[in-house]
Amino acid sequence: MQLPGLIDAHVHTRDPGAPHKEDWGTVTAAALAGGFTAILAMPNTQPPITDAAMLETALAAARAKARCDYAQYLGATEANAEALPPLAPRAAGLKLYLNSTYGPLRLDDTATWHAHFARWPRHAPLVVHAERHTLAAAILFAALYDRPVHIAHVSRREEILLIRAAKERGLPVTCEVTPHHLFLTADDLPRIGAGRGEVRPVLATPVDQQALWENMAVIDCFATDHAPHTLAEKDSDTPPPGFPGLETALPLLLTAVHQGRLSMDDLITRLHTNPRRIFGLPPQPETLVEVDPDAVWEIPLHGWHTRADWSPFAGLKVRGRVRRVVLRGREVFRDGEVLASPGYGRDLRAE
Ligand code: NCD
Ligand code: ZN
Ligand code: ZN
Repeated sequence: MQLPGLIDAHVHTRDPGAPHKEDWGTVTAAALAGGFTAILAMPNTQPPITDAAMLETALAAARAKARCDYAQYLGATEANAEALPPLAPRAAGLKLYLNSTYGPLRLDDTATWHAHFARWPRHAPLVVHAERHTLAAAILFAALYDRPVHIAHVSRREEILLIRAAKERGLPVTCEVTPHHLFLTADDLPRIGAGRGEVRPVLATPVDQQALWENMAVIDCFATDHAPHTLAEKDSDTPPPGFPGLETALPLLLTAVHQGRLSMDDLITRLHTNPRRIFGLPPQPETLVEVDPDAVWEIPLHGWHTRADWSPFAGLKVRGRVRRVVLRGREVFRDGEVLASPGYGRDLRAE
């Protein structure tokens, strides 16, 4: 069975700053192994990507190491609302962290939100990490400025219902949901372990999870929020939040297709068509993903391409496996092996 090249609009590369967790080479190897031929990289690196110099640093690392195509987000701070708009053509989009999560980027004061909403170009993507009441506030800003806002990793019933209501009113909001919020809940924490199970937004209740499935029509994209941390870090006294997800997303979603909870069209729309449209990404010619939809396997804890090399889904039985990936005419993955060299990936925002 053949799929188009998948696009993950929410990936943490950890490059620059934390190569022991991941870098542009390992994260793009994991992407190809998972059937993703394009990733959009979040800006909460160390240091974060908040100005022209840091954007160039990240893009230079990507140019040297990336094996799949990519674009890099910029992060909003209290001080950079005026400096960022000229960089918009070179960036995946602008990311606003409106709740606390991993990394230093966080905007508390809505006056700062105004500064960014007033200046960031309306045709350029704007993505928010906004949970619960903060999400209601972010939707107000989409209405006030009449501009598209994409809502990252929606996880709760109250949130998907808010987005549904906003869409019914014609407000320009889109959203993504992660595989971990579709396939895991807080009930899985005893099996996963409390530290390993730390993620933002937190794993929710079965009622929240069910509301996501029941409102599939409201969900524009699936995005992994691939957020690699080592097992030693996850098992420490201060476990950082985040799960690796690039290599497990497609098998989990193909399993849902097999079970009749999702159609193949639902899957392709949310992993290819919609992310390409919402983020204005160019087509990738001669690009395809071959999957074996009937391969049954159990997700292992280790043995992944991501340097974090663990999975919160370990032990789950899935049906569906990536066999082969072709990117721009070249075979880049086959039967467990990544064939693309570092540097083969292209910047999707290059002129
Ligand atoms: C992300 C990370 O580790 O960078 N962690 C997470 O739990 N999702 C940050 C984020 O996406 O909020
Ligand atoms: Zn987030
Ligand atoms: Zn994230």
